[in-house]
Amino acid sequence: MKSVTCTAPVNIAVIKYWGKRDTELILPTNDSLSVTLSQDILHSKTSIAASKEFTEDRLWLNGKEEDITKNRRMHNCFRETRALRAKMEQANADLEPLSTYKLHVCSENNFPTAAGLASSASGLAALVYTLAQLFELDISTSELTRIARQGSGSACRSLFGGFVAWQMGQEADGSDSLAVQVAPESHWPELEALICVVSDAKKGTSSTKGMQSTIETSPLMAERLRCVPGRMDAMKKAIHERDFQSFAELTMRDSNQFHAVCLDTYPPISYQTDTSRAIMALIHEYNNSSPDGKLKAAYTYDAGPNAVIYANKENMREIIQLVAHYFPGTIGTYFTDPYKVIGDAPLGQDFIPKAHSTFNENVIPVFPAGSVSRLLHTKVDDGPRVLANPDDSLLNAQGLPKRLA
Ligand code: DP6
Repeated sequence: MKSVTCTAPVNIAVIKYWGKRDTELILPTNDSLSVTLSQDILHSKTSIAASKEFTEDRLWLNGKEEDITKNRRMHNCFRETRALRAKMEQANADLEPLSTYKLHVCSENNFPTAAGLASSASGLAALVYTLAQLFELDISTSELTRIARQGSGSACRSLFGGFVAWQMGQEADGSDSLAVQVAPESHWPELEALICVVSDAKKGTSSTKGMQSTIETSPLMAERLRCVPGRMDAMKKAIHERDFQSFAELTMRDSNQFHAVCLDTYPPISYQTDTSRAIMALIHEYNNSSPDGKLKAAYTYDAGPNAVIYANKENMREIIQLVAHYFPGTIGTYFTDPYKVIGDAPLGQDFIPKAHSTFNENVIPVFPAGSVSRLLHTKVDDGPRVLANPDDSLLNAQGLPKRLA
């Protein structure tokens, strides 16, 4: 039996992917751009074993076996990586015929699945990256993103660290629809993120269904597609210049436009809740009252109610205090302070930053405890990692999960 374990990160788009021109190959209707967040805080971990003893391909997700017979996206990833391995085996008879073996896949997220925290992106990226390691595929990361894209569109962006663009491409076969790194994680180390978990619940309309419905029914979508190319150029420039002002405004505008096309979909889709909108109002008040008129925080929302707030490191402490005041948490996992920015200070106190003299305290009410269930402070970080220590494997020596739910 040969087995490999890897982790892959979550990415949060600042120019959103929403809409496919080919649903089978997962080819998008626009370019998108995302930031890869640290795996130390959020990741999907996947172990894959190949053995001639196995009788079928099997998957365990978060400790439960899933029926994958109808999971076309997963089979596409298996088929593509096996085909590349088979070519290598044909060229070199000494290679073990791994492409002919069945696979056991065991995967876990260290965060709730389908809560709008991009679990499909990290999950499918971990799957494809681990397959590439297992089969020792000799291909570039960008080439591998073409395969990950067929598992879940946004997964292609989780194969790189730092700042990542998914180029939509023009070809009908998808050969030019792949992700590239715009800048590595080391480029802008001051940029950090605060994820405000508004709901752990599974979302109503999946991204996959929602985006097709938008394409079919939203007249506003044509305007969005007209806007995105200019925004992509401006966003790349903002990142290259570490220009937080432009980065922040583009990020918020793009999130708002994405949710506007959702609302323009018929019947409408609304992913944001009152809590989500209150966080937006709070961030605008915080930015508007900033002493030199400069933006200090930017929110963005995926297909769910959770806010992701991007900010420079120097402002993170006051942003955490601000959010924790208006959205008080319950003791325990609410905020674990991984980078020790709050220390022993009481959480949610001294919430009006000193320099913000015009800050309107009544911009939103203080929400009931638990409206935001968790605050996750994280950073821009690297792409998938291989875990070489066999103790890290989710599979035992027989190729079966060590833990079941
Ligand atoms: C709102 O990648 O989950 O997060 O390709 O159908 O699997 P499929 O969709 P998915 O869509 C993500 C949409 C988004 C925006 C983004 O990440 O760019």
